[in-house]
Amino acid sequence: MTDMSAPLFPTSFICPDISSKLAPVYSLRPLQLSDYKAGFLDVLKDLTTVGDITEERFTEQFEYMRARQGEYFVIVIEKVATGEVVGVGTLLVERKFIHECGLVGHIEDIAVAKSEQGKKLGIKIIGALDFIGKKIGCYKNILDCSPHNEQFYVKCGYSNAGFEMTKRFDKS
Ligand code: ACO
Repeated sequence: MTDMSAPLFPTSFICPDISSKLAPVYSLRPLQLSDYKAGFLDVLKDLTTVGDITEERFTEQFEYMRARQGEYFVIVIEKVATGEVVGVGTLLVERKFIHECGLVGHIEDIAVAKSEQGKKLGIKIIGALDFIGKKIGCYKNILDCSPHNEQFYVKCGYSNAGFEMTKRFDKS
């Protein structure tokens, strides 16, 4: 039978210092399959379009990521009393040829539920992803954000390093 609480990646990648600084009503941990029903996708809806994702599709995506250990680190902050997910973030580790086959961490899909914003959960999510990046050997973490969020990332220790460029492709 599927273990719904099996973590996406080993819990040794969760920063003990940040965990201990979280108020005890929250818990910081890797994504797990049961988060489909705990509101993981709803938190992402505060960030962008998510679409209708069935539990089967979610499980398929989760298993794809879990099979690639060392690449996908999706973390959540859970409200312990209710079990609901209130904060999410991803670190995707890219293997490069430059910088002596270096590793770069891409910070993606950061979101905190509206009701929990302003409680320093966002800054802890970024700190937790920075910890993972350092632990796995990345020489830097990078991210794209809107000008609206620039000061949030400055408070997380990031600095503006240029422009984001994008090209969208038709699904057809
Ligand atoms: N502009 C300026 N300062 C900000 C902003 C902002 N948009 N957001 C937070 N801050 C400041 C806070 O005031 C706080 O400052 P302080 O330490 O001086 O008091 C500090 O940054 C830390 O704030 P947190 O409380 O940790 O932020 P929060 O938990 O609310 O999370 C987040 C911030 C993630 C941006 C949240 O507002 C959110 O989920 N927004 C909607 C989704 C989104 O835009 N996500 C980011 C997408 S970019 C990406 O994914 C790479």
